[in-house]
Amino acid sequence: MLKKILLGIIVGVLLAGVVILTIQEQANAAAARERGTAGSRDQGRQGGPGAMRAGLGTWLDELTKAYEQNDREKMGQMLEEMKQRRQRFQRGMGGPGGGRRPEGMGRPGQGPLMMGRGDTSAAEYPPLSKSEEEKKILGVLDDMDKNQRRGMMNVPIADGRLLRLHTESVGAKHVVEIGTSNGYSGIWFCLALRKTGGKLTTYEIDARRASLARENFKRAGVDKLVTLVEGDAHKEVTKLKEAVDVVFIDADKEGYTDYLKKLLPLVREGGLIIAHNISMRGGRSGIADYVKAVTTNPDLETVFYGQGGGVSVTLKKR
Ligand SMILES: C[S@@+](CC[C@H](N)C(=O)[O-])C[C@H]1O[C@@H](n2cnc3c(N)ncnc32)[C@H](O)[C@@H]1O
Repeated sequence: MLKKILLGIIVGVLLAGVVILTIQEQANAAAARERGTAGSRDQGRQGGPGAMRAGLGTWLDELTKAYEQNDREKMGQMLEEMKQRRQRFQRGMGGPGGGRRPEGMGRPGQGPLMMGRGDTSAAEYPPLSKSEEEKKILGVLDDMDKNQRRGMMNVPIADGRLLRLHTESVGAKHVVEIGTSNGYSGIWFCLALRKTGGKLTTYEIDARRASLARENFKRAGVDKLVTLVEGDAHKEVTKLKEAVDVVFIDADKEGYTDYLKKLLPLVREGGLIIAHNISMRGGRSGIADYVKAVTTNPDLETVFYGQGGGVSVTLKKR
C-alpha cells in the first residue's frame, strides 16, 4: 500500500514537471519570436518537451514494470535518466542574450542554460578547446551527451568538467574510476590525464557498456591512457597495488563505503576521493554511510557540490 502511494507521488511529480516544461516551452517560443530567432529549435532533440511527452507513456510503463518486479536499481536509473533529460531540455531552452558556445559543444544561438539546482555554467561558460586534440575530445563528449545517454547513467556535463578540473589541478598520475558505463566520465578524466602524463584505471561490471566504452575511448583518441577492468569492482580493486591520486566512485550506491575502505589506503596524501550522486543528508541507501565515513574521519576534509548530480570531493590530508 505504502509502495503504491510512493509510486503515485513519483508519477504525480513527473506529470507536474511535464506541465511546467510545456509552459516554459511556450514562454521560450514567445521570447524567441521576439528575438527573431528559432528559440525552440531544440524541440526535436532528445529531451525536448515533445519528445518527453511522447515517450512518457512508455517510460511510465517501464517504471511500473520495474516497480512490480521490485527492481529498485532500474527504478533508480530511470528516475536519474528523467532528471538528466529534464536538465538537457532546460539547457536547450534558450533565452535572452544567447550564451557563448564552444566548438563541438552545443549549437550556436542557444541562450543561457539553467542546469539542475541553479547551475548555469555549462551553458553560459562552456568548455573551450585550446587545441585540435581538445576539440576532438570535446566533440566526442558532445556526441555521447546527445546520442548515447539513454541507459548509461552518465554524469551531467557540469560534473564531467569538475572531474577534469580537479584531476588536472592535482596533477594526477593515476585515476581510479568505479563505474565506467560507456566511458563518458572517463573521457572527461582523460582530458586532464593527457596533460598530467597520467592514466585511468576504470572498472565496469556490464559487458555491453564496457564494450561501448572501449569504442568511445578509441574514437576520442584516449584509449592508450585507459585500462578498463571488466568485472565486479569490489573484488577487482583489491588487486590494485599502485598509488592513486584521484578515486571516482560512481557505481552501486550500497558499495560506496566498501570502495572507500579498499581504496583509501592507496590514495596518496593530497589526493582526492570524489563520489557521485551524493547529497549531504544521505538520501539513498548506502550514501548516508558514505557521507558519515568521509565527514567523521579527521584525516579527511570533504566538501559537497550541489550542482549536477551531487558530488562530494574528499581530500586525504597531508
Ligand atoms: C552511474 S553508472 C557510471 C556512469 C559513468 N561514471 C559516467 O558518468 O559515464 C554506474 C556503472 O557502474 C556499473 N557497476 C555497478 N556495480 C558495479 C560493480 N560492482 N563493479 C563494477 N561496475 C559496477 C554499472 O554497470 C554502471 O555502468
